[in-house]
Amino acid sequence: MEFNHISVLLDESVLMLGVKDGIYVDGTLGGGGHSELILKKMSGGRLIGIDQDTDAISAASERLEEYKDKFTAVHNNFSNIKEILRELNIEEIDGAILDLGVSSHQLDEGSRGFSYNKDARLDMRMNKEQPFSAYELINTYSESDLKRIIYAYGEERFAPAIARNIVAEREKKPIETTFQLSDIIKKAMPKEARQKDKHPAKRTFQAIRIEVNREIEILEGAIRDFVSVLKPGGVLSVITFHSLEDRIVKTVFNDLASGCICPKNFPVCVCNKKPIVKLYNKKPIVSGEEELRNNNRAHSAKLRGIIKL
Ligand SMILES: C[S@@+](CC[C@H](N)C(=O)[O-])C[C@H]1O[C@@H](n2cnc3c(N)ncnc32)[C@H](O)[C@@H]1O
Repeated sequence: MEFNHISVLLDESVLMLGVKDGIYVDGTLGGGGHSELILKKMSGGRLIGIDQDTDAISAASERLEEYKDKFTAVHNNFSNIKEILRELNIEEIDGAILDLGVSSHQLDEGSRGFSYNKDARLDMRMNKEQPFSAYELINTYSESDLKRIIYAYGEERFAPAIARNIVAEREKKPIETTFQLSDIIKKAMPKEARQKDKHPAKRTFQAIRIEVNREIEILEGAIRDFVSVLKPGGVLSVITFHSLEDRIVKTVFNDLASGCICPKNFPVCVCNKKPIVKLYNKKPIVSGEEELRNNNRAHSAKLRGIIKL
């Protein structure tokens, strides 16, 4: 299957990196869109492209074949950035980009079990070597854990009824497919809510995908690790597609950019906290009208950046 994915905030995020002939990391290689633009801007230097999905590694390696002298693809989780660089004998990098979430390819490829529009075994693993999939999650999580993740990661107000229905149905027989799950979700929702324009299973599927891939859990630690390997003046740019992700990025960036946190009534600073980055932008950069017209995924995209001091 062809790898279809339109990069979001492509120019804006790569411009932020101020690419010169240095060492850069694309932590979310996907179809290689951002990587290709970075490589076009370098005459020497090196780009490390990381993805936990082997489909992305193959598709991007093929697309970036002409840059193979400057490009290294790594199948791994970007949260292991320090280890990945250590193995490549790289101490510091000049910039990095994270374009979070799933690619359109992952959603479109029915057999991966990410989509409520295609019937397949429940899966949703970005990393096909990981043993834990949506099947295990749906058939083993307690009702309260199901409710918690559907609320938190799906912002789904019918989370309690959906969690209850999942548990009731799996007692009859295991829930094995995307269509089975989608039906269970629909039946837990009132008729009016089901008829709204968005697919009724959209928010719950998103929540399950985020939990299966530990997308929120790893984010803060990964950002801190990327910052620790940036050279002074190096930039980290991050594109998010979910309000909770953006909140984490914003909070961690603000924390890294702030100095002393001692109470105001302390005569001298005892915390010794110093800013280690500067914010590239205070407000997130969002897509312009043209991108919004041409790419549905752009609607929720937010770009933030920091510069290492
Ligand atoms: C939105 S797509 C990236 C698209 C890419 N920037 C492009 O322009 O083609 C996100 C990609 O990141 C990968 N990904 C998400 N979280 C990851 C993680 N923690 N570690 C490694 N890869 C990850 C996904 O497998 C997916 O291929």
